[in-house]
Amino acid sequence: MSVERLSHEALDRVLALEAESSPYCWSRADWQSSLKSDDCFELLNEGQTMAVVAFSVVFDEANLLNIAVPVQAQRRGYARQLLQYCLNHYANNGIKHCFLEVRRSNAAAIALYEKLGFSVIGERKNYYPVTGGREDALVYICRLQQGESEDA
Ligand SMILES: CC(C)(COP(=O)(O)OP(=O)(O)OC[C@H]1O[C@@H](n2cnc3c(N)ncnc32)[C@H](O)[C@@H]1OP(=O)(O)O)[C@@H](O)C(=O)NCCC(=O)NCCS
Repeated sequence: MSVERLSHEALDRVLALEAESSPYCWSRADWQSSLKSDDCFELLNEGQTMAVVAFSVVFDEANLLNIAVPVQAQRRGYARQLLQYCLNHYANNGIKHCFLEVRRSNAAAIALYEKLGFSVIGERKNYYPVTGGREDALVYICRLQQGESEDA
């Protein structure tokens, strides 16, 4: 298992992977912008991409923007491994906190984040569009600690 940084050349691959993972995918323009300006990584298993993630980093704060694992590869620990690698990497490079927003209904992602040490610090009412209405976002933080291994 290894983690590699993604560049704009990965755009079509990332779009295809996310389309197999979630009903709420980013647009082509979202990924184009993130691959250009943010930190995007993939987790590879025997050369195959199992998970992709995007973070923005400003000063000593990281923001988890998106993470996706194709449905057929879910519940095998890929997201946890990729996120743990990234959080350790950021901690060892002086980043102090990681923030994220998640749909209140996204039980899988919430369980993943809480397992990794994120805790809720707020909510944004009616933040996300959902069929026929709006849905709240929960805001999470994880305080990062230096010295953890960056092995994937
Ligand atoms: C959320 C997502 C990235 C999790 O990826 P994954 O590789 O399946 O997650 P992991 O196998 O690493 O799971 C780690 C832990 O998270 C929790 N978890 C993950 N999926 C879960 C589910 N469907 N139900 C309950 N808990 C879940 C469990 O605690 C799990 O540990 P366990 O399997 O030992 O019990 C994946 O479901 C996904 O791509 N969803 C669609 C996109 C999305 O919602 N992204 C988040 C946007 S904020």
